[in-house]
Amino acid sequence: MTLAERLSRVQAGIPPGVTLVAVSKAHPAVAVREAYAAGQRHFGENYVQEWRAKAEALADLPEIVWHFVGGLQTNKVKYLVGKVGLVHAVDREELAREIARRSAQRGIATRVLVEVNVAGEASKSGCAPAEVPGLVAVVRALPGLELRGLMCIPPAEGDPRPHFAAVRRMRDALGLTELSMGMSGDYPVAIEEGATIVRVGTAIFGDRRPSSP
Ligand SMILES: Cc1ncc(COP(=O)(O)O)c(C=O)c1O
Repeated sequence: MTLAERLSRVQAGIPPGVTLVAVSKAHPAVAVREAYAAGQRHFGENYVQEWRAKAEALADLPEIVWHFVGGLQTNKVKYLVGKVGLVHAVDREELAREIARRSAQRGIATRVLVEVNVAGEASKSGCAPAEVPGLVAVVRALPGLELRGLMCIPPAEGDPRPHFAAVRRMRDALGLTELSMGMSGDYPVAIEEGATIVRVGTAIFGDRRPSSP
């Protein structure tokens, strides 16, 4: 199957109102260009350096929207502000404050999601569920941030559905809009559980290669 065929197969399973983010991490700029030519507009990246090189190589694509879906070091925030449509993984106050500060300096608001470490996995980033309301309150109060919703990556093993459902309940209780959840292996379940944004890499681009743009 070609990339365009894999993409259209994934797109066919995405209902209206759900945004498909094609996660292009570890795939070259030429693959992003091919997906764009096939109609895809939202792309997700995890590493600032890799994303910067790709964004530069693809600066001629007028409608491309970048999503930063990876964990983010505070000292890299300056590269993202004003250049990405959505930051998916805000998981601590320090990071929220730095995005807010850099955004306010430029007179803009950056759209963000709070990442929830839904199963409390020590190895994963994300804010512990009990701390989500506190972080959400901080983010809401900061000029320079536009809080859009929550994001999660459930454990690799086991049924993701209860985790998706739990984050949806959190989103509802907090009166938020977006729910970024679901990857190649589980996006149909995430959609059933209320995802508004799915982040799909492998099912579109194939296996990730250790390559750069
Ligand atoms: C945060 C995040 N979301 C989504 C994906 C895409 O995962 P998959 O290739 O399983 O679709 C990745 C891949 O690294 C990721 O890091």
